[in-house]
Amino acid sequence: MTSRRLVLSRGAALVGAASTGLLLPQIARAQGNKVRVGLMLPYTGTFAQLGVAIENGVRMAIDERGGKLGGRDIEWFKVDDEAEPSKGIENANKLVLRDKVDVLIGTVHSGVQMGIQKVVRDNGTLCLIPNAGVHAATRALCAPNVFRTSFTNSQPTLALGDVMVKKGHKKAVWITWKYAAGDEAFEGFKESYTKAGGTIIKELGLPFPQVEFQALLTEIAALKPDAVACFFAGGGAAKFIKDYAAAGLKGKIPLYGSGFLTEGVLDAAGPAADGIITTMHYGDSLNTPRDNKFRLDYAKTFRMQPDVYAVQGYDTGLLLSQGMAAVKGDIGNKAALYKAMESATIDSPRGKWTMSKSHNPVQDMYLRVVENKENKVIGIAAKALADSGAGCKMA
Ligand code: PHB
Repeated sequence: MTSRRLVLSRGAALVGAASTGLLLPQIARAQGNKVRVGLMLPYTGTFAQLGVAIENGVRMAIDERGGKLGGRDIEWFKVDDEAEPSKGIENANKLVLRDKVDVLIGTVHSGVQMGIQKVVRDNGTLCLIPNAGVHAATRALCAPNVFRTSFTNSQPTLALGDVMVKKGHKKAVWITWKYAAGDEAFEGFKESYTKAGGTIIKELGLPFPQVEFQALLTEIAALKPDAVACFFAGGGAAKFIKDYAAAGLKGKIPLYGSGFLTEGVLDAAGPAADGIITTMHYGDSLNTPRDNKFRLDYAKTFRMQPDVYAVQGYDTGLLLSQGMAAVKGDIGNKAALYKAMESATIDSPRGKWTMSKSHNPVQDMYLRVVENKENKVIGIAAKALADSGAGCKMA
């Protein structure tokens, strides 16, 4: 990765040499002709691994296509957003105003995304969301220049309630981090679980990114629900799974979740994760030629197994590549670029998906169970599930 200082000093060298009348305008043009791609992701904190997997996926998709976008070389810029909402606007401005990126890829945390959403709406910068599921980004605050390649927070849990009731779990406790991602995942769960005839006997929560679960687990033991459903992710999810088992609840009260609970954490969680059932737009055993190739290539390149975050990053790279190819690298041709991205079909490792009118994936939700450190796919929980896009009016 080229550091900012390196970029600046190279620019300064060019200016100096140009004034000596050497053959530099061509080089200067070639330099200026690079597509400026900004990555705003968490590289520290409980979501650090998610940021790394997303960046790996983005780079892999673009590298497979010759490392260029619409025939143009790329200059990368990176900001660690720390999954810290209070710095969301400031960090997005670093990429948009300081680095003048052509496209901002980010981020993971829904609260941080709201800062990005303001900055990219104000400046008209193309933004690809590789994870954060906050409803507003593709509902009331949707925008022609914002595309999501992941999910809305309620999409995975809209597929969960029915599964639990069919397994005979009529009374459930819900537990999550109290912020947009957890609250909106709850909306999906509540809708699907109550519609299927289930009753939510208690909603429990703690602030993000706290991991002091013990008091809440004691409360769950006392409530004796038929099952528990939850939203956690990253390092906090691994700890929740282990604490749930250590509290003696595993094997007594079945644990369900939005699939993020068991993504990228199975090595850390170990046998405590076995048997957890989740719904998600990806799984480790899809066993399609497309996914098998992706998994093998990813493992070879990065010496680790891919997860849903890697896939979302990869699909972000695919979407951007397809859009840029359609306009032959002319990122200023916004109407054509956005049209190409809106009408794209993404040949994803998760299965082919298309973009909804409000720029969110229409996709299948798989039912998975953890077995031997794998999210084993055991069915399709919802077919071609679209978010409502409620309140989205494209300007
Ligand atoms: C979010 O904050 O939107 C979020 C974070 C991590 C996930 C999923 C959603 O795994």
